[in-house]
Amino acid sequence: MPVKLAVIPVAGRGTRLVPLTKSLPKEMLPVGRKPVVQYVVEELNRCGLERLLFITGPTKAAIENYFDLDVELVNHLRETGKEELLLELAFEKADLQYFYTRQRRQLGLGHAVLCAESFVGKEPFAVALGDTILGINEKARVVERMIQVFEECGADAVIAFEETPLEETFRYGIAAPADLSNPEVFPLADIVEKPSPKEAPSQLAVASRYIFRPGIFEFLKKTKPGKNDEIQLTDAIQALIAAGGKVLGVKVAPHEHRFDIGNFESYFGAFLEFALADPDFGDSVREKMRALLHEEGSCR
Ligand code: G1P
Repeated sequence: MPVKLAVIPVAGRGTRLVPLTKSLPKEMLPVGRKPVVQYVVEELNRCGLERLLFITGPTKAAIENYFDLDVELVNHLRETGKEELLLELAFEKADLQYFYTRQRRQLGLGHAVLCAESFVGKEPFAVALGDTILGINEKARVVERMIQVFEECGADAVIAFEETPLEETFRYGIAAPADLSNPEVFPLADIVEKPSPKEAPSQLAVASRYIFRPGIFEFLKKTKPGKNDEIQLTDAIQALIAAGGKVLGVKVAPHEHRFDIGNFESYFGAFLEFALADPDFGDSVREKMRALLHEEGSCR
């Protein structure tokens, strides 16, 4: 069965980005010209996914509104001679179906994925975290490669990984590869949620994209609260590996670099990079930044 369904968890409150996220979902924060979640949806569309199930929460209605067809706005732009802006709304017409369900209790990422169980049924599915952009300029195709590996190798799960500095391992799920003879696609012997640098089995960090068979739900149901007292997806994957499941890692390419929008430091960094890469305004942003940095330098 081909992988056509993606589950997009967007229920997390984004507490590290308060007050921005008090009433605005962190997935709706702008990075350059678009909200974070639009990059995620466009990436999945590019990689051949057709049905998207968002796992949402109480403050996330803006996401549903965003992906609706806005006929009123389209008519208004036409009537006022602003046809060129219609291009910016082209994403509304993508050949995608949108579905939404709520995670009614904040019990962690593993629990959020478990909320998709009855919708998923018997088909394999992707999971893409709604607060993480992969790559600049719409080039990331790692999910497409993951699906190919998943199908060719008959894997039970395929997970995207990106090298992270040793001091950052405590932020991510970290792989223990069984064999790195092919560093691009490798089997996992284990995976650990947010280990300290000392305990980290490698520097390969989960990069927010996964492919699963529905069998993962049985492991999720048995998963007890782990790190931060939450039901962790990583712990269910660990149990799947321990039970003999075939779990493979796929490395993201340098141009598919992960932009986490989970804290101010990484959010500011992501916005700057996207603004600098903007085809129309990148150069003027660059000039402005140079001037600011120059001023800052001369004040020291
Ligand atoms: C989650 C996962 C973690 C993963 C990370 C980024 O953590 O639990 O394993 O590395 O996403 O993909 P969170 O950032 O939600 O705390």
